[in-house]
Amino acid sequence: MLELDGLTKHFQSPDGEVVRAVDEVSLSVSAGEIVALYGPSGSGKTTLLKLVAALLPPDAGKVVVNGCEVSGLSGREAAAFRLTEVGLIRQTADFVPGASAIDNAAFKLLGRYRIKEARHRVEQLMGELGLGERLTHRGSQLSGGERQRVMIARALAIDPALVLADEPTGNLDSRRSEEVLRLLRRLSHERRTATILVTHDPLAARYADRVLELHDGRLRPHISSVASA
Ligand SMILES: Nc1ncnc2c1ncn2[C@@H]1O[C@H](COP(=O)(O)OP(=O)(O)OP(=O)(O)O)[C@@H](O)[C@H]1O
Ligand SMILES: [Mg+2]
Repeated sequence: MLELDGLTKHFQSPDGEVVRAVDEVSLSVSAGEIVALYGPSGSGKTTLLKLVAALLPPDAGKVVVNGCEVSGLSGREAAAFRLTEVGLIRQTADFVPGASAIDNAAFKLLGRYRIKEARHRVEQLMGELGLGERLTHRGSQLSGGERQRVMIARALAIDPALVLADEPTGNLDSRRSEEVLRLLRRLSHERRTATILVTHDPLAARYADRVLELHDGRLRPHISSVASA
């Protein structure tokens, strides 16, 4: 479903050094599979997800989703790809503060449905994420973890083929984290989504089919007590 082949992205740091953010990463993720990706801060996890979501062009290598080479898409095609295929849960919140929680969650559906229908479609998902009582709250009336879960609902509402989750449980307590992980697990089974789950959360390994680790932009199997816990 998702194929990464020799994917590489280097940056120039302010002092002129080359940062090998993502270095010749090759990986296949099947439909229905969750790959958990651990790695220290700065190891290239977010950069990798941005390359897969066509938010960044690679220096070398390619990203293929369902036979289509993402790295070759134009800006407009890449935007359409993200809107219909990719459930991108970003580390930095994209919450629109002036809009309600439910309208934030329905955001990506508004091109396809009228607002009432779009709201209706995200309500159940928000309930599952423990936001049933928070639908009409605005940004300032929500906690950080609640806003994060609204962004998870937004990403998943489009019924994506590919879920790219960048520390989705980063602001959540263990109970909420489990809810999010269980939801990702269920969607991967029921809707055959392929998921890359970037995380520092030891819990996540239990919900993943495979656990990998990124170090200085290079992928390797995750060897630690976390994986076997
Ligand atoms: N636009 C950029 N220009 C220069 N360097 C960058 C840029 N984006 C990322 N980097 C560098 O690339 C490396 C990987 O960054 P990335 O954000 O992918 O790390 P990460 O694994 O997601 O870290 P964290 O766990 O802290 O989120 C870091 O050293 C970072 O400083
Ligand atoms: Mg990151």
